[in-house]
Amino acid sequence: MKILKKVFVNGYGSIGSRIAQFIKDDPDIKVIGIGKYSPDQEVNTATSKGFDVYVPQKKLDVFKEYKIAGTIETALDDCDLVFDASPGGYGYQNKKNLYDPKKLMAIYQGGETVYGENAVSDLLFNSRANYPQAFGKKHVMQGSCNVTGIGRILQPLREKFGNRIIRFDVILIRRWADLEQTDKEVVDTIEWKENPHHGDDVKSYMGKDIPLFLRAIKVPTRQMHLHIMDIRFKDSAPKPSEILQIFKNENGVAILWTAKGTKEVRDFANTMNFSFKDTNMIHIHANMTESIGDTVKIMYSDDQTGIVIPENHMLMQAMLFQREYGEAFKHTEDLFHIKEKKKALEDHFARKN
Ligand SMILES: NC(=O)c1ccc[n+]([C@@H]2O[C@H](COP(=O)([O-])OP(=O)(O)OC[C@H]3O[C@@H](n4cnc5c(N)ncnc54)[C@H](OP(=O)(O)O)[C@@H]3O)[C@@H](O)[C@H]2O)c1
Repeated sequence: MKILKKVFVNGYGSIGSRIAQFIKDDPDIKVIGIGKYSPDQEVNTATSKGFDVYVPQKKLDVFKEYKIAGTIETALDDCDLVFDASPGGYGYQNKKNLYDPKKLMAIYQGGETVYGENAVSDLLFNSRANYPQAFGKKHVMQGSCNVTGIGRILQPLREKFGNRIIRFDVILIRRWADLEQTDKEVVDTIEWKENPHHGDDVKSYMGKDIPLFLRAIKVPTRQMHLHIMDIRFKDSAPKPSEILQIFKNENGVAILWTAKGTKEVRDFANTMNFSFKDTNMIHIHANMTESIGDTVKIMYSDDQTGIVIPENHMLMQAMLFQREYGEAFKHTEDLFHIKEKKKALEDHFARKN
């Protein structure tokens, strides 16, 4: 009989609920259960989807009205890997208090850090850039949605043009909240913050010398992030068609010509019954690509919730099975059908003339 690896998903919010839902269909994996911290409707949702719900030992009392399988502490005693999907910063606490004492393998999400005293790992994962580096690691951080999206653009460009590129300037226009975070008010303002983490996070896997200049603002929408990027070349910039050609066969990058906004893309995902209304990828808005003198301007939207879920699956395979990239990629594709989704998106938003 095949021995399945036992996996626990600690946190069942936007990211944890998606990880659990997809990973449960992986034939090599048994999802032992999910961790909940607040006694709310999501406990019943998780149970109705077939997940055993575990809660912290010290909160058992407040979950008296719910069907609970046991405590997170004991669930983790018989587990091969935990996906930490807690709110940013809690992953580090969980590492210290739960995973390290139990010598558990763990994957952390983009709200954590790989820098300083609260670092959860020395590796920030991006399957396109550093897949094999996760082999043999016990703790790895999955890059955030924005950080993952940027890597999907930078890595192919660097492979093609190398040091002909002298500068990347990117403005991240970040969504305020996720679709299902209905309790989170979307405030009518545009916010900014000094030193957004995204630049340093990208440099942690693309190299600290990459000439990346990044600014970020947050705007009142739930419908994806949008990145506006200018790529400066040493000499004349390539034509837009040459740039788009590079991404034609890139996994998890769709090239769309006629989308007018992020909601239109997500609405299409919904009509196609993509799980969670996610596309699981970034979408280059090809009609917005321009080349002037030494600079190429591109714009792409980034499915904030969906993009990191197949990445988590790739990372899990690197850590648990040390699977060769091509094989891992195939397993992930079997669960997420990203090629099919890319084709559907590209056909729907195809160039009209
Ligand atoms: N949302 C996105 O688009 C997105 C994209 C990429 C990366 N990320 C990253 O993914 C992580 C999770 O974000 P999210 O958006 O999924 O957050 P979320 O929707 O707020 O969900 C967080 C979940 O963590 C649970 N939780 C609370 N305390 C916990 C603890 N001590 N340990 C473990 N879990 C705990 C919460 O449980 P209760 O509800 O029961 O209290 C909730 O289910 C963050 O690092 C975030 O930066 C988010």
